[in-house]
Amino acid sequence: MSTDSIRAAVRKHYAATVQTGSSCCGPSSSCCGPALSPVELSRTVGYTNADIETVPDGANLGLGCGNPLAFAELRPGDVVVDLGSGAGFDAFIASPRVGPAGRVIGVDMTPEMLERARSLAARDGITNVEFRLGEIEALPVADNLADMVISNCVINLSPDKPRVFAEALRVLKPGGQLMVSDLVLLRPLPKRVRASVEAYVGCISGASLRDEYLAMIAAAGFADVEVLAESTYSIGSSNPDATEQAIADDVGVAPEDLKATAESVVSVKVRARKPGSGVRGPGSVPPPGQGTGSGVRGPGSVLPPAKAGNGNR
Ligand SMILES: C[S@@+](CC[C@H](N)C(=O)[O-])C[C@H]1O[C@@H](n2cnc3c(N)ncnc32)[C@H](O)[C@@H]1O
Repeated sequence: MSTDSIRAAVRKHYAATVQTGSSCCGPSSSCCGPALSPVELSRTVGYTNADIETVPDGANLGLGCGNPLAFAELRPGDVVVDLGSGAGFDAFIASPRVGPAGRVIGVDMTPEMLERARSLAARDGITNVEFRLGEIEALPVADNLADMVISNCVINLSPDKPRVFAEALRVLKPGGQLMVSDLVLLRPLPKRVRASVEAYVGCISGASLRDEYLAMIAAAGFADVEVLAESTYSIGSSNPDATEQAIADDVGVAPEDLKATAESVVSVKVRARKPGSGVRGPGSVPPPGQGTGSGVRGPGSVLPPAKAGNGNR
């Protein structure tokens, strides 16, 4: 698939998702059958009831594959940028943590998602959150603005992941943190699954091999790249007839083979730091039992000078 056709398919899929409320990018999806509710899905991937109750009704579509804010030490006044903010779930969770002196900027390329997120912010009078139309490969955000860049189950959908990490680095202040939840692969997928549009928009076939994903973050110029948590993430684990069946129908792969394929997908929570003498240190150690100890710490290569800001603040 070309980059343009990938973007078009992803946009079309997520426009339909917000309009119908169904999810094909969760541990139990509802493309073809009954599914867990967004609240149940969110609990499954690591959100607390307090997180879930913080957000406006309608923001939680159950599309995340982890909780990127679980280890985030946000402070009042911080600026947060959420890559692929969807209906605003994580942005709304971050909002009270950064308080009135802080800001949260969500970026998403699907107008229907933005419309939902903006209308919820307006309805509930949440003024420190804004949602911008844009692609995460060319963020509509100024250089050196953010204390933290977060993203939840989005970068796997990008056809140009090195560019996404370079953009995240550009918009972070020196010392700022990247906190990402995403799906990665333990082994390569069969060719036919890789060619499946359903598998792509369902967050499977665009995913990178785990070590390549971490290497891309380091190569963008990040330091202290660490995997804070890693968990198995078998699509269809609660509803085996949903995403798996959609992919099987799309490419003609037997569901049993597809199930094995799905077992190579894991959800990771990754933290990294933009080098420089910012106010943030390397971050706290994850709570006992939640880190894998298998993170990489690469010195990172030096990026070319950050491209000029685009006038956004
Ligand atoms: C699986 S959903 C996750 C939404 C949100 N992060 C959440 O957890 O609820 C993926 C979102 O990323 C957006 N997206 C995918 N690729 C993108 C890109 N290249 N640029 C901007 N947004 C993108 C989609 O429009 C969709 O809203």
